[in-house]
Amino acid sequence: MIKKILSKAVTSLAGRDDFEIPEHDSPLFAEIDWDKLPRHVAVIMDGNGRWGKEHSVLRTAGHSAGVGTLKNILKTAIGLKLDALTVYAFSTENWKRPETEVNFLMNLFYESLKKELQELHEDNVQIHFIGRIDGLPESLQKQMHEAEDLMKNNTGVKFNVAVNYGGQDELVRAVKKIAADVQAGKISPEAIDETLVENSLDTCGNLPVDLVIRTSGDMRLSNFLLWQAAYAEFYFTDVNWPDFSPECFVDAMKAFANRDRRFGGLNDNKK
Ligand code: IPE
Ligand code: IPE
Ligand code: MG
Repeated sequence: MIKKILSKAVTSLAGRDDFEIPEHDSPLFAEIDWDKLPRHVAVIMDGNGRWGKEHSVLRTAGHSAGVGTLKNILKTAIGLKLDALTVYAFSTENWKRPETEVNFLMNLFYESLKKELQELHEDNVQIHFIGRIDGLPESLQKQMHEAEDLMKNNTGVKFNVAVNYGGQDELVRAVKKIAADVQAGKISPEAIDETLVENSLDTCGNLPVDLVIRTSGDMRLSNFLLWQAAYAEFYFTDVNWPDFSPECFVDAMKAFANRDRRFGGLNDNKK
């Protein structure tokens, strides 16, 4: 009971709730190399439970605090004019967690989306949900479709939220779709190429992922964007997701600017 009361109070410890989209000349962006920014950033928002433990509160308080972090990172991504931000909110493996935590998360997604809907729209965000959406509670599915529909004509950052998402599951669904088209005679097996596979994924229409950020110290993909991250750079930080600030995000941008991306080729100066 005490942990529960404390959880409510401590949630406000993380993040700032008055954070606005930073202008191009904001001090936050002072050391940014604008020509070397990633276009598509993917984030594995990990460490909410550890954050809760660190503050002697429930794991779920970490999840609540994490929503505020996401809001601020999205606003930073808008300020940076990134093309796309894709975030991992719930994996196909996360159903293994206790029912109380899963239910808490489903409710948190629903309530947060409902609360933030108008502001996201005003910020010109194009929201899109990726993953096995039909496996989610009906009320959440409805809210998600409503949000996608509301923002479908927006032209700002592509904000993809992965819920009940697994990279392997996404590929299996894509393969099934292609196989059905082959069986129906719509395409020949020879027509199957990288572009067709890419266009059959949930992220169809997005650029390849340039940078994957994972918070909280673990260094793995946990089934996230297996195809899309083929040539992504990786950035790991020990900071738990609720403490991951816009400054932390900018640090990741700076690290990316210093990476030497070769895509299997050679650098100009090594030719
Ligand atoms: C990430 O934080 C959020 C989800 C997976 C839903 P965790 O809940 O995995 O936090 P840790 O890794 O246990 O600290
Ligand atoms: C990955 O985090 C999934 C999300 C952030 C939604 P997990 O906490 O589920 O990953 P593992 O279990 O440590 O690999
Ligand atoms: Mg985790």
